Order: sequence, then structure tokens, then C-alpha cells
Amino acid sequence: MKIGIIGAGAIGSTLARRLSRRGHDVRIANSRGPETIRDEALSTGARAVAVSEVADAVEVLIVSVPMNRNADIAEYVRAAPASAVIIDTSNYYPMRDGRMAALDEGQVETVWLSELFGRPVVKAWNAITAQSFDAKSTEAGDPHRVAIPVAADRDADREVAISLVEDTGFAGFDAGTLAGSWRQQPGAPVYCTDRSPTDIATWLAAADKDRVPQRRDLAMDVIGDYIDAGGIVDGNFLVSINRACYA
Ligand SMILES: NC(=O)c1ccc[n+]([C@@H]2O[C@H](COP(=O)([O-])OP(=O)(O)OC[C@H]3O[C@@H](n4cnc5c(N)ncnc54)[C@H](OP(=O)(O)O)[C@@H]3O)[C@@H](O)[C@H]2O)c1
Repeated sequence: MKIGIIGAGAIGSTLARRLSRRGHDVRIANSRGPETIRDEALSTGARAVAVSEVADAVEVLIVSVPMNRNADIAEYVRAAPASAVIIDTSNYYPMRDGRMAALDEGQVETVWLSELFGRPVVKAWNAITAQSFDAKSTEAGDPHRVAIPVAADRDADREVAISLVEDTGFAGFDAGTLAGSWRQQPGAPVYCTDRSPTDIATWLAAADKDRVPQRRDLAMDVIGDYIDAGGIVDGNFLVSINRACYA
């Protein structure tokens, strides 16, 4: 497929590498210009382009920028062909008084994002750490494949996104509608916990809207305290802490 990616950070770069390797025609952009995109992101054939060109004639546009930068790129997303599937990888961290705030109607921020972009949006690849995404891809059929939840309102969009998640080396799992995508956001049991295809449904169903914010804060406190004490936070540590705090 012809795929554009906005954002060439930890997630966008890995997406570019994996999807190009699978034969997709990938172009990728950041805010600072194509010459600043790291060679590694382009190592399997993706092309670096200006953000103003990234959505030209694409079939899929993946948005992988920090949540608070989405307004800056809305004009480029709106420029994508009407038929393009728009996929967002971002996470929602509402803050109040310097602390993580309780989830409110903004917790279905992807719905808000749909309004900002003026397009239906799919949520995928948000619920895996950059470390697991980089290190844990496997071939299709691997019984130990890590599952990635995909939320979408249109079946055709969901099908495309699940197929692309599979192409990146993970099991794409239908997590329901966009309005329910709070179930795959920080603090929920499937968020960055490397669930398997066989148990992800149980963990999605176990998510409790009232507890998600406090669980999310708890994990952030533990991780922050560990870092303050000089600890090294690697991917497996994050998954372990998240599993303990979010279950
Ligand atoms: N890191 C994780 O573990 C992880 C896991 C799952 C999902 N996510 C989510 O995925 C998204 C990307 O995360 P990340 O860790 O890859 O972020 P990152 O490493 O900070 O990279 C962000 C990228 O977005 C680009 N960007 C920002 N503003 C832009 C703009 N106005 N126009 C074009 N490009 C712009 C940046 O380009 P410049 O540097 O040129 O500004 C950079 O390439 C975030 O929403 C994050 O919450 C992250």
C-alpha cells in the first residue's frame, strides 16, 4: 500500500522500517525536514519527505506525533485523499495541577481527534512500548506473538489497520469502537503490557473506567521513583510495572 507517516520518532521510525520491509511504499515526515530523519528509519526503503507532501495520494496515513502536536499537523491530515485510512498512535495524558487528571469525556480523545482532522480515525500501535515494538516482532503464526489492540468505527478501516499491525510483526486485535478506545489507553490492563492474542480480550473487558486514572498515576509514580533512585528503565521493566499496576 502507499503509506504516509507523520512523526519519525521511536514509533514512526519503527513503523517505517517494518512496513517498507513488507513491501509497502512508505514516505515519512517530521517537523524539521526530511534531511533530519535518521538513516535507520529509511534503512528498508522508506523515503523522507516534507510534511506538506507526506499525504499526497496515500492509501493510509499514520499519525505518530505527541498528542499535543496533533493540532499542528491537522492541515496535512485533512489534505490526504478522502479514501485514505487515518491511523493514530497517540496516547492521552490529561494533566491537572501537575498530576494526571481523571479521565473525562476527553478520554475518548481519538473521537476528538476525528473532529480535529475531519476524518474517521483508527487507534493502533498506541498500546505497546517503543521497546517492545522494536524488539518483539515475530513472524505470523508464532504462538507467542504479542497482540496490539485496534479500535475503529468502520470495518474497512479496521481491516486495513489490523493487516498493517500484522505486517509490523504483531497480532492485530479488534478492540471495538473508537468511543471504547479508553480501554487501550494508559492505566488500562492492555496498555503496554504485551498481552497475548488469547488473553487480550479478557484484559480489554476487565478495564474499569473509574480505576484507570489512578492505576496510570500509580505506574508513573513507581517508574518516576525508580528513575530518581538511579534505576534503568528498560522495556521489560515497563511491562512488568504496568502489568502489576494495571491488572
Ligand atoms: N514511545 C513510546 O513508547 C510510545 C508507545 C506507543 C505510542 N506512543 C505514542 O506515539 C506517538 C509518537 O511517540 P514517539 O515516542 O515516537 O514520539 P517521539 O519520539 O517524541 O517523536 C515524535 C515525532 O513527531 C514529530 N512531530 C512533532 N510535531 C510535528 C509536527 N508539527 N509536524 C511533523 N512532525 C512532528 C517529531 O518531529 P521533530 O522531532 O522534527 O519535531 C518526531 O519525529 C505519541 O503520541 C506517543 O504517545 C509512544
